[in-house]
Amino acid sequence: MSRRFATPAALAATLVVVVVLALSHHQAAAQETDVVTTTRVANRQRRPPKTKAAQPPRSSPPKQLSPAPSPRRSPPSPSRVSPPSPPSPPPPRSPPPPPNNGSLVGGSCRDIKAVLDVQNKLRAVHKSPPLTWSSALAASATAWAKNQSVKCGGGKSQLTKLGENVFVMHSMPRPSSECAQAVMPWYSENQFYKFDPVKPFTLNLNSGTSQFTQLVWKNTTTVGCGMAVGDSKYWVSGTRYLPAGCLVVVCHYLPMGNVAGEGSFLANVLPNTSYVPL
Ligand SMILES: *[C@@H]1O[C@H](CO)[C@@H](O)[C@H](O)[C@H]1NC(C)=O
Ligand SMILES: *[C@@H]1O[C@H](CO)[C@@H](O)[C@H](O)[C@H]1NC(C)=O
Ligand SMILES: *[C@@H]1O[C@H](CO)[C@@H](O)[C@H](O)[C@H]1NC(C)=O
Ligand SMILES: *[C@@H]1O[C@H](CO)[C@@H](O)[C@H](O)[C@H]1NC(C)=O
Repeated sequence: MSRRFATPAALAATLVVVVVLALSHHQAAAQETDVVTTTRVANRQRRPPKTKAAQPPRSSPPKQLSPAPSPRRSPPSPSRVSPPSPPSPPPPRSPPPPPNNGSLVGGSCRDIKAVLDVQNKLRAVHKSPPLTWSSALAASATAWAKNQSVKCGGGKSQLTKLGENVFVMHSMPRPSSECAQAVMPWYSENQFYKFDPVKPFTLNLNSGTSQFTQLVWKNTTTVGCGMAVGDSKYWVSGTRYLPAGCLVVVCHYLPMGNVAGEGSFLANVLPNTSYVPL
């Protein structure tokens, strides 16, 4: 192994990159064959580039993550003399205590209660009733998360009868595996959703908000989530790869949201009146 630049530990201390690809089915237009592609393109177009880290094309694995400049430290340099105090290694990620799941079971999320509760808190803000946990949906979500984690992908399953939200996070060191961290990225699409009183369906078809709308969809009653961690690689500026990881979180919903139609969106995606700290 080359020692010219930095040890893996030092690089781990100086470089942490997270890329989130949050994708979703837009069942709203399920009649159109390339709905998913449309939604993905819309997501990319809608998001200002500066708010998202680079999103490498999903079709060309392995992922090559561009290193992000650390706001706190200059990048490692071969000619650099020893700094006054060497960078400390990243704090070991101590395993969190076993979460309280209530009586909920099913799927691979270890934080079942948390991933359910955060979704229900957000739904309440939009006047939607709480979801109940489905171990069957958790099982199907887990299966798809495992499928996508093999290549750290964020693709959609072929399951067209249920709602599906997919979250992918690449990071070095490998990400923690909590499922609940997927929910706010889905919800944050709300900033692009137009609560139009007449044509909310038409106006939001290409707004890249279908994960937000599925999340708060009033008529949805059950959810189940699963996750899987895969291996990815972190490309160190022209030198070499370091091992990294990806977390894929999937939630499946029934009845599915994003049912096409203006009335459907008017009835199922209600505005929140103000900011509500969670
Ligand atoms: C919650 O569920 C997960 C996954 O089934 C399990 O690993 C964890 O130990 C459970 N927590 C408790 C407190 O039983
Ligand atoms: C993932 O699912 C797709 C579609 O069902 C299937 O073709 C593919 O073989 C699966 N891949 C893995 C690694 O399970
Ligand atoms: C709500 O879901 C049920 C299925 O449980 C479906 O029959 C009904 O059409 C849905 N209503 C709306 C407004 O989406
Ligand atoms: C409520 O609406 C505001 C915008 O009016 C938004 O910024 C906020 O994230 C929404 N949700 C919550 C949970 O506060």
